[in-house]
Amino acid sequence: MLLNKIEEIKKNIKVWKKEGLTIGLVPTMGALHAGHLSLIKKAKETCDRVVVSVFVNPIQFGPAEDYDKYPRTLEADEKLCKENGVDIVFAPAPKEMYGDGGRLSNDILTYVCPPFFYVNKLCGKTRVGHFDGVCTVVLKLLNIVQPDYAFFGQKDAQQVIIVKKMVKDLNVPVKIIQCPIIREESGLALSSRNKYLTEEGKKDALALGKILNNIKACYKKGITDSVALRETAYAYLSEKHDLEYLEFVDRDTLEDRTIADNNTVVLIACRVENVRLIDNIYLGEN
Ligand code: PAF
Repeated sequence: MLLNKIEEIKKNIKVWKKEGLTIGLVPTMGALHAGHLSLIKKAKETCDRVVVSVFVNPIQFGPAEDYDKYPRTLEADEKLCKENGVDIVFAPAPKEMYGDGGRLSNDILTYVCPPFFYVNKLCGKTRVGHFDGVCTVVLKLLNIVQPDYAFFGQKDAQQVIIVKKMVKDLNVPVKIIQCPIIREESGLALSSRNKYLTEEGKKDALALGKILNNIKACYKKGITDSVALRETAYAYLSEKHDLEYLEFVDRDTLEDRTIADNNTVVLIACRVENVRLIDNIYLGEN
């Protein structure tokens, strides 16, 4: 069922709650791919009812970012959701979520601003205000849907850590479930933004996964110095890559790790054909 109005979805949620059913929320910006489907699958396994939100959230895009260009494929998304047993697709218009305010308006919206330490690094460094937008919309969605569980992909590792922190800090009664990165056979991490890449760009984009895999292999051989590990990346980079960051941080706290350990996550952001791609790897896992 496709719903656009907050009041409509709330009515359905009320009925489910009355029946004692557990609810799972998979928040998305649409352009669904196998990565999202893995979240939906996990939600189906975990919960009695599954809601997928499809909302390209204007307030998490910077003024120079791809908000207008971001792929919008609601019809196909709805079909995929139906085929995969989703009970409700919630696809509100920006006005439904933010009234006449929202982007660039300070007088209507109360923002959720995560702690500076969590946002002043990695993606937050160049995407100023991004995580305020993410946390604000996620909290709104959690308040609307009131799910028992909400499902996020490890692909956006910083996002999950920040959302978990928000949920803990604000005592939001939901359990955040993190699901593994889904990759193409080539190793490219699935992303809605891959649609912007040409075939050649896709090949160049494989460098991200190769860099991370090689770092992990070096770590497993005993190299733990993050400077030495970072240097191994240059063998995979060419003038086609515009590296934004390659960082080593703790997978729970986002604290920098100069010496890598089993709790370290290595995160990379790199532009290929001017498309901003991100990927990450946990060093402690097999
Ligand atoms: O990961 C995303 O697609 C978005 O950041 C999210 C969590 C749906 C919030 O808009």
